[in-house]
Parts: sequence; structure tokens; C-alpha cells
Amino acid sequence: MTIVTHDQTNTDTSPVAVKLGRSPHHVAIIMDGNGRWAKQRGLPRSAGHRQGTENLRRILRAAVEFDVKVLTIYAFSTENWSRPRREVSLLMRILEMVLDRELKELNENGVQIRHIGEMDGIPDRIQKKIKEACELTRNNNELILNVAFNYGGRDEIVHAVQNIIRDGVSAEDVTEEMISNYLYTGGLPDPDLIIRTSGEFRLSNFLIWQGSYAEYYYSDVYWPDFDKEEFRGALEDYANRRRRFGKTDEQIDEDTV
Ligand code: IPE
Ligand code: IPE
Ligand code: MG
Repeated sequence: MTIVTHDQTNTDTSPVAVKLGRSPHHVAIIMDGNGRWAKQRGLPRSAGHRQGTENLRRILRAAVEFDVKVLTIYAFSTENWSRPRREVSLLMRILEMVLDRELKELNENGVQIRHIGEMDGIPDRIQKKIKEACELTRNNNELILNVAFNYGGRDEIVHAVQNIIRDGVSAEDVTEEMISNYLYTGGLPDPDLIIRTSGEFRLSNFLIWQGSYAEYYYSDVYWPDFDKEEFRGALEDYANRRRRFGKTDEQIDEDTV
């Protein structure tokens, strides 16, 4: 995969290109609709997952171009284990294949890979590859790519609470900031924008703590077809939102002078 930081063919002066200052720093994507994409074409679900993986390459490239600094992708949820065994193993193999085929170029393009989710349960061979990929790319800073794999928001909070107790923290010392730091995303800013494709309006256990003040964007397009232009549309929509964080419009106007 070649990620270009500057698209030579792009003479684009659209709002996103102009409003780079308003690009969300952290975008998270619930990549949904692979199965329905395939079904619509009379193809097996596996074809949808393959096409979805292809699309991820496009979106990664676009993310760098659109100046997104952190991209979190939901690739496999703790609930996805309940899918048919064959589909689960295919999704495992797809992650392995992406790591095998793309790691070198992702690294050359300055992408820092992180894993969020529970390692236990992922086949040992793939755990090893995930760890190697994270280790190899840990000093890169063009784009942080958080791969949510065997990830569940509730599971993440349970895990954080267990570690807080193990560390002997007393009840009165527990703060929101501390909990944030104990999550898999510890040290990263919360997502500014969470995108879900395929017309579903739910979180499915994704970033339930971190998304408390995120902007949400839902698209009817199935993930394999959610291309650069669709992504641009989501960022444009974000650029026109007014984030109040509980304040009034007047306060926000004052803050921005
Ligand atoms: C998203 O597509 C990929 C994963 C959840 C791994 P789906 O496989 O959920 O596709 P639909 O929702 O059945 O169309
Ligand atoms: C969410 O999609 C999980 C991922 C995209 C990895 P699902 O397709 O699993 O979500 P539900 O089951 O429709 O809520
Ligand atoms: Mg789905």
C-alpha cells in the first residue's frame, strides 16, 4: 500500500481541503455492511469482507491526505465471536493477511499501529504478529492507526476497573482521567468523529466511554463502497457542526474570539 501525504493529481479546493484546520483529530469508524454488500451482488459474505479490506486501504490513504491524526477502526467486536466458526476464522485470517502484506509499507509511510481490545482469545500466531506490528511502528507519527480487534467497550471498562483495583488505588483517588488512562486507548485523545456505515444507528459496544462527546455520522453506504468521497462528505459534515460540550452558543462564540 502506498499512502501519499500529498496527492499530486488533486487540484481540489473543496471545503475539506480548505478547512483543514477543522479536520477532526481523531476519527473512529464502525466499518459495517460487508455482508449486505456481498448479498446484494449474490456473492458470499467472504467477498464482502475482502472488498471491505480493500476499501480500508483507500480510507487510510485518504485519512493521511485529510490530515486526520488518529484513526480507529472497528474490525472485530467481542460479540463477533458468536458468528459462524468459518466466518470468525476468515476474519482472523484477514487481519493476519493485512499485517503480512501491508506492514512494510504502512511502516514506511509513518503509520503507527496500535491494538485496542483483549489479546486473550486471539490465536497465538496472530497475537504475535499484532505485537510485532505495534513494536515495529511504535515511533511513527504520520498517523496513529488503532485497530479495534476483539474489542468491546464494556469489556474494556471491566479490564480498566480490574487493573485499577490490582494497582491498589483507593476509591477517593479514582477520577475520570484515571479511568481514561486505564482504557486501551489510554494516552490518546477521545474521538472527535465516529462514523458508522451501512445505515445502522447504534454503537454496538464501540468506544462507549471515549465517545461521550464525539460527533456521530451515519451513512447508508455499505463499508466496501464508502470511498474517499464519502469520507470527505463525513468530514465536511463534521466541519459544519457546532460542538458545545454543555456550554451555550454565546459562550462558544466568546471562546473562539
Ligand atoms: C462488518 O460487516 C464487518 C464486521 C463486523 C467484522 P458485517 O459482516 O457486519 O456486514 P453486515 O452487517 O452483515 O452487512
Ligand atoms: C460492529 O458491527 C462490529 C464491527 C464493525 C467490527 P456488527 O455488524 O457486529 O454490529 P451489530 O451486530 O449489527 O450491532
Ligand atoms: Mg454488521
